[in-house]
Amino acid sequence: MKVLGIETSCDETAAAIVDGDHTILANKVLTQLEEHKPYGGVVPEIAARSHMDHLDRLIREALDDAKIGFDDLDGIAATAGPGLIGGVFVGVMTAKAIAASRKLPFLAVNHLEGHALTARLTEGAAAEFPYLLLLVSGGHCQLLAVEDVGCYTRLGGTIDDAVGEAFDKTAKMMGLPYPGGPLIEQIAKQGNEDRFDLPRPLKGRSGCDFSFSGLKTAVRKKIIEIIGEGGNPDHMSALDKADLAASFQKAVGDVLIDRCKRAMDMFEEKFGRPGPLVVAGGVAANLTLRAKLKELTDTRGTKLLAPPVNLCTDNGVMIAWAGLERLRLGLTDSLDFAPRPRWPL
Ligand code: KG4
Ligand code: ZN
Repeated sequence: MKVLGIETSCDETAAAIVDGDHTILANKVLTQLEEHKPYGGVVPEIAARSHMDHLDRLIREALDDAKIGFDDLDGIAATAGPGLIGGVFVGVMTAKAIAASRKLPFLAVNHLEGHALTARLTEGAAAEFPYLLLLVSGGHCQLLAVEDVGCYTRLGGTIDDAVGEAFDKTAKMMGLPYPGGPLIEQIAKQGNEDRFDLPRPLKGRSGCDFSFSGLKTAVRKKIIEIIGEGGNPDHMSALDKADLAASFQKAVGDVLIDRCKRAMDMFEEKFGRPGPLVVAGGVAANLTLRAKLKELTDTRGTKLLAPPVNLCTDNGVMIAWAGLERLRLGLTDSLDFAPRPRWPL
């Protein structure tokens, strides 16, 4: 069984092909980073136009890489939400056109379900249902019990910013370009994580919700102490930036660990074991945070399952795989499925 997956919900144009034997036959990802950089964030109109310009070519290249044609496919999957709706339309309309013209099943995939199921492609039997999922990306921050394809129980989520957003905003305040997450991780390596005393929002509270806006405000105050109100962040020394990045990352790590501990307790109560814990979404590319989560799962006698870094950030493989899992269960969609800008799991 082979499925083509299309991802266009944010600033990556991606097309990939996977098969039922867990093989990635093609994985094309084109990032629009340079196009959005001057604006300090993703501009929806630019994103949609850029997806239009490049998607057809990427699909063609994916088929070439897999050495197959459209007629060798068993299904066409596309992210149908949540996301920037102009981009989602481009992907969905393209997928529908291929599905209609080749008489293939169409699969409308929830982007979050793509992130949620990736570990089942890469980790195989270790990621049997049920598992605990920490989904941490630029737009999402949630803890979920994944019980089956299409069966997700939300244990907690952010009450304000997503964690990736907190990384990106912190970076922006320090004068670093978008997306700041990977840069913060990079410069934190040279920093002293104990120099700045930053809050750990909601740590120790019951439940497993997240909050990052207070942490962001605390970072802003530290920056003002260094460069003055309205000061130029370029006047921060490399050491100040590294120490602040490291202190910020440590605070985020402490919060994630605290919230995951609670989620593991809730998961254990329901399923009799605390994990495994699957980490997914762009922030899961952060190796320092992964190491902390690994310590936690080791302590709790369970496993951390983390897909390779390139499958944590947005890609077409995760959409193709989620589509394949749905196709196997007969969960196909009709061609009048309307894209959804908001679509909780
Ligand atoms: O999943 P993703 O590619 O797109 C969304 O669905 O949001 O996640 C992108 C987010 C951005 O906020 C980016 O800064 C963050 O993931 N990110 C990281 C790292 N790599 C990407 N955050 C922290 N450390 C990283 N290494
Ligand atoms: Zn994503």
